[in-house]
Amino acid sequence: MEKRGTFGSKLAIILTTAGSAVGLGNIWRFPFMTGQNGGAAFIVIYLGCVLILGIPGMISEFIVGRHSQSNAARAYGNVGFRKARYIGYLGILTSTIILGFYAVVAGWCLQYLFASIAGQLNGDTNYILEYFKTFSSDPIRPCLWAVGFIFITHFVVTQGVEKGIERASKLLMPLLLLILVVLVIASCLLPGASRGIEFLLKPDFSKVSSGVFLEALGQAFFSLSLGTACLCTYASYFKKDTNLLKSATQIALLDSFIAILAGLMIFPAAFSVGVQPDSGPSLIFITLPNVFRQAFESMPIVGFVISILFYALLVFAALTSTISMHEIGTAFFHEELRLPRNKATWILTLVCSFIAIFCSLSVGANPNLQLFGMPLMDFCDFITAQIMLPAGAFFTSILIGWMVEQQLVKQEFDNGGTLKTNFFHAYMFSVKYIVPLCILLIFLHQFHII
Ligand code: PFF
Repeated sequence: MEKRGTFGSKLAIILTTAGSAVGLGNIWRFPFMTGQNGGAAFIVIYLGCVLILGIPGMISEFIVGRHSQSNAARAYGNVGFRKARYIGYLGILTSTIILGFYAVVAGWCLQYLFASIAGQLNGDTNYILEYFKTFSSDPIRPCLWAVGFIFITHFVVTQGVEKGIERASKLLMPLLLLILVVLVIASCLLPGASRGIEFLLKPDFSKVSSGVFLEALGQAFFSLSLGTACLCTYASYFKKDTNLLKSATQIALLDSFIAILAGLMIFPAAFSVGVQPDSGPSLIFITLPNVFRQAFESMPIVGFVISILFYALLVFAALTSTISMHEIGTAFFHEELRLPRNKATWILTLVCSFIAIFCSLSVGANPNLQLFGMPLMDFCDFITAQIMLPAGAFFTSILIGWMVEQQLVKQEFDNGGTLKTNFFHAYMFSVKYIVPLCILLIFLHQFHII
């Protein structure tokens, strides 16, 4: 039997897992969600979800994955209840669907990176709007970019855990942070930027409707890659002395910090040039090119460089996340169907490319591709972020809190007693009661059952 990979060092563990967490969810989804849901008030609820539900949820997935050191389905089945495999299957299905639609947006980022380099994003507001419309409604180009992105991911995943995933994350994560900081400084120095900063930091709870809670919950789980079995799969490559509580806390804080930095990069610039913050998913493809052009009108070369840096940042962030989604299914097909890793990688690449093509067409050339009255792409986003991810985290909490032997949970939590920690009881209380109850309440409320 081939030896299983592990991440090489503590830093590698943090960077690869944070690489999965930090992605388009932080830089594309978080800002437009914040813009649509009232700014700072949304952020407060979001941070509450991360701290109260996210961190315990992450630890639970880590426990399942590290205990069994195998793919998600086997890992869930190995904690004492064979039927728990279905939680693993659910996670694998969720991450495969997410990879399908995520690759569409990642493909748009690649196109915009090349367009920025070629200087094609120079023009007035109408030109930029038309550029996006023409590109996204083309039947071929966005599909090719999306599939191309999945193939780049495929290439890294075939290199294996240490040589591929770990190396890519170690290189891309620091680069990403650096570019982000440069862009935040540039944005906050623009005239009138303070109104954007205020929008992000001063909560106005009168704008909060009940739906905002489920949106914030979905966003927190999506951003932390929680409920997809991704954390469980990555934890299967952790070492036995990895401190799970500390790793979960560090990753959750880093992820939230980067999301807020992304807000600080986008909103001050948007307010500075008088662009509305609530323009939705197209915020970074229509609004921002306008911002780059108007904000740096007197220094076009700075605008040119900033725009390239921004789309490069998005591509890097997306790649470290798509790698993790791909790895979930690859590890499953490799270990469960006993396929060579290379073949397992191909299965996932083909399935996700298929989903990506249909999602891309549904928001472009063929708007009739709908499910439940939504374009297929929006439907995939809705069903994963607002139903499948919370469901995955809910069932994992029930499993760890109520079904698995506490001894096993404690063993993983404190590394067999070698870690001195006072948080075990708080953690158990949280996974037993707080996490499942909060998810259930938010769910029932959203669907008008209570
Ligand atoms: N957390 C990623 C982001 O914020 O972009 C998205 C993601 C990655 C979701 C991996 C699910 C997953 F399994």
